[in-house]
Order: sequence, then structure tokens, then C-alpha cells
Amino acid sequence: MTAYDELKIQLVLTPKRWLVTGVAGFIGSGLLEELLGLNQTVIGLDNFSTGYPHNLEDVCAGVSEEQWSRFTLINGDIRSLVDCQTACQNVDYVLHQAALGSVPRSLKDPMTTHTVNIDGFLNMLMAAREANVASFTYAASSSTYGDHPGLPKVEDRIGRPLSPYAVTKYVNELYADVFARCYGFPSIGLRYFNVFGRRQNPNGAYSAVIPRWILSLLNRQPVFINGDGSTSRDFCYIDNVIQANLLSATTQNVAAKNQLYNVALGDRTTLNELYYALREGVNRGHDRPNTQEPRYQDFRSGDVRHSQADISKIQSLLSYEPEFDIHEGLKHTLAWYRDNLTS
Ligand SMILES: NC(=O)c1ccc[n+]([C@@H]2O[C@H](COP(=O)([O-])OP(=O)(O)OC[C@H]3O[C@@H](n4cnc5c(N)ncnc54)[C@H](O)[C@@H]3O)[C@@H](O)[C@H]2O)c1
Repeated sequence: MTAYDELKIQLVLTPKRWLVTGVAGFIGSGLLEELLGLNQTVIGLDNFSTGYPHNLEDVCAGVSEEQWSRFTLINGDIRSLVDCQTACQNVDYVLHQAALGSVPRSLKDPMTTHTVNIDGFLNMLMAAREANVASFTYAASSSTYGDHPGLPKVEDRIGRPLSPYAVTKYVNELYADVFARCYGFPSIGLRYFNVFGRRQNPNGAYSAVIPRWILSLLNRQPVFINGDGSTSRDFCYIDNVIQANLLSATTQNVAAKNQLYNVALGDRTTLNELYYALREGVNRGHDRPNTQEPRYQDFRSGDVRHSQADISKIQSLLSYEPEFDIHEGLKHTLAWYRDNLTS
């Protein structure tokens, strides 16, 4: 039995009160679904800027009525300290996910990304500390590695940020560390590497590559690759990320607190490999297979060429064991989009 299996049994026996910020988003709604499934009480905070009510409806449809009754939604903004204070009341564990993602969005509008991701983060830290919560876990990002050339990425070796978004995620880490040292309020930052899975938004200018390509392939529209397709990423299925959050929030290992961890597979997939894996998956069982080739365009500014995580730290300190490799994750993801996408 894995540490995560044991934890889930423990949580069912002694349910806790969780705050998930960004609960209507891709990762937040995944956390909500898992926690409600374990009979936990969940407070969700979201301002629906990039999250959607339909994500919450989808979670609602997958849990029992009793489990859903343990969820309270606060329609609020992390840029408001009062909203953060309200959300943190009587909470055991905070999973702070709310932020404005996307490197291109931050290049276009650095100010809004700054206020949400930095002011909002500071509000959440202050409110959580005031409320004396048992733990504070937050979504950090692999973008913090910036222009550091080393591969695989190891937590204590970072470069210069390559975008305003990366600056904001790095500042979060600095504030978290200062709160631990100045106020004795430790937290854990999870540096996610390209997460994918159900409910990730496939639409819009700032959508992530996997849902966008699935949508295009299902609709037989062209798929565009930035660069020659040799760019590689450590794509990580959502359920591995959920595991990392729950292990982080509940850890009793003192050495594991006030730390940063890579959350990924420790593997690397090129965009060309990803494209053909998705095309094959979309074609499975189809009598008129999609044979289109990807269209290559210029590399995108601010993008690093290769990314791969060293996951030994999270494996040893938090007993993280990713359950889904990329192929297994893509299989589940494709099945979900096939059932849920209409256009
Ligand atoms: N998806 C990835 O691959 C990835 C990689 C690295 C880090 N992250 C981080 O993980 C977190 C979750 O990302 P996601 O992919 O689920 O994105 P998402 O856009 O689907 O979810 C973010 C959620 O936060 C909410 N939100 C935004 N601004 C808010 C505000 N001011 N007040 C309250 N709520 C607000 C949005 O409405 C949305 O529901 C973010 O912090 C992101 O930076 C994600």
C-alpha cells in the first residue's frame, strides 16, 4: 500500500476542513473532486476569472448529494484581504491554487498578473497565518527555473525568470520563505510542470497545449507547433498533482515543511511525440482516421527548449509516487474530452 493510499484511509476516518482557492479552475476542481470523494469538508474561493461554473457542476455530478453538501463556495477575490480572511476561518489545510496562469498573458498584461499572483498570494499568506491553519500548500511553477540550462531541474538550482508570470511565481516562493523565517509560518510550494487532464480549458488564446490540440484533432482542425517539435516537457497528469497536494498538506515530517518540490513524472516528451500520441489516441476506434500532419511555426519567446524534473526530493520527503505516466494520463484525458466536448 502506498503512503497516499494510507493517507486516504486516514482522511476518511478523520475528515478535515480544507480551503481550495481557484476551486473553479482546472487543478482546483480536481482537488475538490478528490476531497469530496474522501468525505472532506471543502471551502472554495474563486472569482471565476479563468475558472467556470461548469467545472463545479461536473464535480457535483460525480459525487454523492451528501458529499456535495460538504462544499461551500465563496465567490470572492484573493486581491481582497477580507475575502481571504473569510475563506480561511476554521480551516485545517489550505491548498492555494488561485492565480493567473499563462506566460503569454503575463507578457501582454504584466500588471494584472502581478496584482493577482503577488498581492493575492500575500493576502492568502497573511489570512492563513492569522487563522492559524495547520498547513499552507501553494501552486508554484517550473517557470521559476527560467534560463537555468541544467537538466533535470533540481529544486535548489534556478536561473533568471523569462516572463512576468515566472517573476510572480518566484516572488511567491520568496514570501513563503520569509513568512517561515520571520513569523514561524512554514508552507510548502509545489512547482508544477505542465499539468494536464480533465476539465483543463481547451479554448482561448491562453489555453494549454494538450487540451487545445485535443480539441483541434477532434474537430479536424490544423494543429500548430511552435518551433520544430523537438521542444520537450515533463507533462504531468492531474491525479499525480492531486496526490502531491494531499501528501503535502498532511505531512507530519518536520523536515518536509518550508520546502519547494518539483511535481512531475521525471520524464520528458517532445511536442512531436505528444502530437502523434494524441492523434493515435483520437483515431482509436475511428473508421475515418485523421491523417493530418502538424504545422510548424516560429519558436515562441519566453519558452524554454527543454524541461524535465528531478522528482527525488518529493519522493523521499513526501513519499510521492506518481500513479499515472503520460500514456495512461493521455488515455484518461482523451476519454474525458471525447465525452464532454461538443465543439
Ligand atoms: N496548469 C499547469 O500546467 C500549471 C503549471 C504550473 C503552475 N500552475 C499553477 O497552478 C494553479 C492552478 O492553475 P490551473 O491550471 O488550474 O489554472 P486555472 O486558470 O484553470 O485555475 C485558476 C483558478 O483561479 C481563479 N482565480 C484567478 N484569479 C483569481 C482571483 N483574483 N481571486 C480568486 N480566484 C482567482 C480562476 O478563476 C480559476 O478558477 C495556478 O496557480 C497556476 O499558476 C499550473
